[in-house]
Amino acid sequence: MVTVDEHSFPPADSCGITIPEPCGLIIFGASGDLARRKLVPAVYRLFRQQLLPRGFFVLGLARTAMDSHRYRELLREATPEECVGECWQRFAALIHYRPIDYGDPASLRAVLSETLPPLEENAGTGGNRIFYLATPPAVYGEVISALHRAGPAPAADARNKIVIEKPFGTDLESSRRLNRILLDAFRESQVYRIDHYLAKETVQNILMFRFANSLFEPLWNRRYIDHVQITAAETIGIEQRAGYYEQAGVLRDMFQNHMFQLLALTAMEPPSLFSASRVRDEKAKALQSIRPFPLERLDEFLVTGQYARSSDASIRGYREERGVAADSAVPTYAALKVWIDNWRWHGVPFYLRSGKRLKRRTTEIAIRFRPVPHMMFSRSVGGDIEANTLVLRVQPDEGIQLEIQAKHPGSRMCLMPVNLDFSYRGDVSLSAYERVLLDCMEGDQMLFVREDGVDLSWSLLSPVIRALEGRKGLPDTFFYRAGSEGPDAAAALLERDGRKWREL
Ligand SMILES: NC(=O)c1ccc[n+]([C@@H]2O[C@H](COP(=O)([O-])OP(=O)(O)OC[C@H]3O[C@@H](n4cnc5c(N)ncnc54)[C@H](OP(=O)(O)O)[C@@H]3O)[C@@H](O)[C@H]2O)c1
Repeated sequence: MVTVDEHSFPPADSCGITIPEPCGLIIFGASGDLARRKLVPAVYRLFRQQLLPRGFFVLGLARTAMDSHRYRELLREATPEECVGECWQRFAALIHYRPIDYGDPASLRAVLSETLPPLEENAGTGGNRIFYLATPPAVYGEVISALHRAGPAPAADARNKIVIEKPFGTDLESSRRLNRILLDAFRESQVYRIDHYLAKETVQNILMFRFANSLFEPLWNRRYIDHVQITAAETIGIEQRAGYYEQAGVLRDMFQNHMFQLLALTAMEPPSLFSASRVRDEKAKALQSIRPFPLERLDEFLVTGQYARSSDASIRGYREERGVAADSAVPTYAALKVWIDNWRWHGVPFYLRSGKRLKRRTTEIAIRFRPVPHMMFSRSVGGDIEANTLVLRVQPDEGIQLEIQAKHPGSRMCLMPVNLDFSYRGDVSLSAYERVLLDCMEGDQMLFVREDGVDLSWSLLSPVIRALEGRKGLPDTFFYRAGSEGPDAAAALLERDGRKWREL
């Protein structure tokens, strides 16, 4: 492997990390898994890196009866021992908790009028509030409505922001319903729909890479690109999330947002300005250009599957997971062929695949270029040579790899594939949650999904999901072995087009 990654990054703060204005983070569902395992630990890491605002506090809200002292203990238990020390004590002093009852308007009213003002006064946050919904998605509407009823309309004060975790609804109708409730209470400029995947360094780098280098953009079209493969493969199963996954399945869980957003970033036109609204405009246009999937010929575009027990029986199948129905037809894998009907991408298929319990964990975008027009080495080399592929690696080992052909050293005329490889290695200074929290504090909506983005992707996927769920019986090819590359039918999807998936 040829390595061309001799780089040195300037310190993070010289690359535009600014310390946000003082603010309070108010977490609904604060007793839950997300808050304890991801959200508050990310806030703590920001605290340790001195990236939090000068004035700051966390107010946890949930139904569980406990006081702030007990809540801090709960968070401390979720924090690695080596990180707990004098620094933790100072951080813990910023954390508060109050039990609430969403059904009782007086409960949330008391939070807004009695609990928050002294905390804000003390931290000097000047009324800057970030409401973070970390409850199960089914109660988002209820929580937003309760907040709306409890005090002055949040929309009236631009200093209010609301963060909402994916999934954004379960189909087009429910996402529209949720957006209506959300936009009754807040303005779109106050809404941060987060998918933490999109805050990965390489996802953000897609745009930098495309539009700050003159090398690739001229090639970024149907003339030079044969096809694009976007993969999000996991080795893990559904863990403890059977309740959620049985309702969701892979199309709602991964495609509606992650996969379509990765596709939009890869396919979009250059915006005139690197600003949240211009970037989101271009992403929306790319999504609008996706050709609707023909429901009567769905098998030509979509393959779904579900993991079965691994060949050595060391990993159990999806239907054997705790909380999963013994006859569940929920797909844990999908491969989808997408056409984008515009000048840039006419005739270039985008193949998307995502699944659980696959052979290797990887998220990547692979741009496969067309082969050279005339193969002058065919006699000396024999057979075809691999066309160039550019791989944007989102995880793990975030980086970029360009697969090229070079002469094998020696007397014989021989080609060999080599990789030009750039890796961020240990240089990713902010985790995805730290990044999105900071962006939200700073009011930068670039990484967050706008209402039209959610609406467009559901418009494309909802009919497909309905058609799948209405089918009687499962194809024989539905099950794949845990630890494999996925269902055989997914390989056939590309083979029909004379192509093949990159090996996992
Ligand atoms: N966990 C993750 O790793 C993860 C990753 C990505 C996205 N997310 C998303 O983040 C959100 C929160 O996830 P989570 O795993 O933390 O969920 P969770 O643990 O199931 O629930 C969070 C909290 O919500 C409260 N809650 C539960 N049912 C409620 C109800 N009917 N009404 C009001 N409050 C209720 C509970 O607190 P009380 O009973 O004390 O009120 C619970 O502790 C979800 O939308 C999830 O999809 C989670």
